[in-house]
Amino acid sequence: MEYLKITGETNLSGEVKISGAKNAALPLIASTILAKNEISICNMPNVVDINTLLKLIDKLGGTFKKEEDCIKVNTSSLNKTTATYDIVKTMRASILVLGPILSRFGHCEVSLPGGCAIGQRPVDLHLKALEAMGAQIKINHGYIEATAPNGLKGAKIVFDKVTVGGTENTVMAAALAEGITTIVNAAKEPEVQQLCEVIKNAGVLIEGIGTDTLIIHGTNGELLDFKDFDVIPDRIEAGTYLCAAAITNSKLKITNVMPLHLEAVTSKLEEMNFEIIQDETSITVIPTDEIKPVNIVTSEYPGFPTDMQAQFMALATQANGTSTIDERLFENRFMHVSELLRLGADIHLNGNIATINGASGTLNGTDVMATDLRASSALVLSALVANGETAIHRIYHLDRGYEDLEGKLSNIGAKVARFKE
Ligand code: UD1
Repeated sequence: MEYLKITGETNLSGEVKISGAKNAALPLIASTILAKNEISICNMPNVVDINTLLKLIDKLGGTFKKEEDCIKVNTSSLNKTTATYDIVKTMRASILVLGPILSRFGHCEVSLPGGCAIGQRPVDLHLKALEAMGAQIKINHGYIEATAPNGLKGAKIVFDKVTVGGTENTVMAAALAEGITTIVNAAKEPEVQQLCEVIKNAGVLIEGIGTDTLIIHGTNGELLDFKDFDVIPDRIEAGTYLCAAAITNSKLKITNVMPLHLEAVTSKLEEMNFEIIQDETSITVIPTDEIKPVNIVTSEYPGFPTDMQAQFMALATQANGTSTIDERLFENRFMHVSELLRLGADIHLNGNIATINGASGTLNGTDVMATDLRASSALVLSALVANGETAIHRIYHLDRGYEDLEGKLSNIGAKVARFKE
């Protein structure tokens, strides 16, 4: 296993180019299962989760070719329908192949993802939606076995909860279904919007993109004619580097971003007294005399993203006062707290609310353990400002979602290196 060693108390400066969004690229790659042609997807992030899904496409009988930040995917030869445990256990998002495989082949088997570090994370809503469209679903020996011998039929689906993956799976299933599917209480995340836009450009009429009601006119089994496209920028990677600027109180510009997708994040930074300068594709953070505390409640887009909660907790340790973070989406997403305590942070947990006392502001470098993807980035941010050295272990979590983290951090002046345990 590898670990990162970061020497803190450095000032950052310069520019960081943000990569394509992992959480957009995953459903987009899964959607290529609906295509009759080869598709070139550019601005593809070079992260482990993407490679895991491409490995799954390969195991299913599809092919892919990488050329710099583009990937050509061809699923015309896809001839297997089972996503096996060895892949699904390393990445829950493998569940995203369920909708497209089921709608194309009439059956699909996906290993049940099980729980994960941030909570139970069931897939019941994905399955209920597919059942409403006529699928028969059984759980057998740890596998979801879905069949639709007569094809999927358009239906009205009302989600009890807003689910990003559930909405994406349903949109992909509905694309080849017979008739019209209406999704009420659909997720509106930019990643969901891009998936809908790409499928729409491939010939499926989709109404209501970006709203909580999506209406999908299925093609009744006819495969789609995809156009080549670029993945949208990663708003969570972008938000993490904005926090890197803020926590070190440095001037930093992030480029290749869509500021509109980051409004909930930049407005919290403004509340914390940072000046934010934006143009169409970049955001610059200007240092402040005093970092002010903040109160955050996570919610669905366009609210404050749960995937940025841990990074803001790290930042709140440097604020002059007491901040609160109320995590509303996942039941167990404070695994980073005990590691931040090891660095000397003053944080109290009460259920799903964390109170962070930033008055002393001093963090002391030590050994810490990454527990999940975004929790790990909170440890990196804390290490940038802690005195002395911090060793962050189990960084495979970071490699799942941050492209060239140490390269990008070194370029802006951080003292960071990777070692083998
Ligand atoms: C996606 C993101 C993840 C982000 C999350 C919330 C990807 C690959 N991952 O995860 O980074 O943190 O959205 O913005 O895009 N739920 C159910 N039943 C279901 C599905 C979900 O109860 O069938 C619950 C979940 O446990 C959670 C909530 O709904 O409490 C939201 O989850 P969901 O939006 O589905 O998250 P993911 O798509 O898994």
